[in-house]
Amino acid sequence: MVAFAAFARTAAALAPRAAVVLGSGLGGAAAAFVERAAVPFGAVPGLVPPSVHGHGGTLAVGEWSGMPALLFRGRVHFYEGHPWEVVTGTVRTAAELGARRLVLTNAAGGINPALAPGSLMAIQGHLKLLGPAAWRGLAAGDGPVRPYAARLIEVMGAHERTGGRELLAGLYAALTGPSYETPAEIRALAACGADAVGMSTALEAEAAAALGLEVAAVSCVTNKAAGIGETALDHAEVLTNAALAVDRLGALLGALIRAPY
Ligand code: HPA
Repeated sequence: MVAFAAFARTAAALAPRAAVVLGSGLGGAAAAFVERAAVPFGAVPGLVPPSVHGHGGTLAVGEWSGMPALLFRGRVHFYEGHPWEVVTGTVRTAAELGARRLVLTNAAGGINPALAPGSLMAIQGHLKLLGPAAWRGLAAGDGPVRPYAARLIEVMGAHERTGGRELLAGLYAALTGPSYETPAEIRALAACGADAVGMSTALEAEAAAALGLEVAAVSCVTNKAAGIGETALDHAEVLTNAALAVDRLGALLGALIRAPY
């Protein structure tokens, strides 16, 4: 670990254009990342250490398949009690360190029956159903309505098709959490058109788009949402699906980082 000033010098020399945020349990997706320097979130001005188990809370700079990139291992969630400007600290840090593209990942529950555990979903829109706004970064009415770059959704679809797979581009419902939803809440979200549900990403995507970053986001479905699965999943099967998804996710992130800027 190095002090932030030294980290920022290394980052400036590498000139990363993409930043990736890896969500819960998805650290294995960064196998293609070669780290050059790293700092704990707590050493980065504007970031706070995450309190959630499974979120490392480290910012690294290095090369991903030869492309300079920033990697946030972990994120800060709204449900940890932070105001929105703290939750979006990763986004401002990425922009300040030169990133022009932000790739967000999350673990999510599948609502769409096509989303079995281990599936990936490109986020094409979100329902932001979070608690009270405490973010003074934007004036009322400001902010993009479509934060997710259509071009990058196409990049993801094309990448998956080369592997013979279809990638659902779906609607992500972001709830405050931290508890999982009730089956009734999931039925309500399904009626609203949500394909997957989680507790992150939406605020970061909006903040990034407001800063002019190109945004892509991918959900990794770890479970069927409450009340959707008819049978309890076998734990070994869930682990196998998660491991498969992490490899596929890593390849997909590589394609997003390499796509023309
Ligand atoms: N609900 C909300 N967040 C989640 C879920 C879920 O089912 N799975 C992973 N993150």
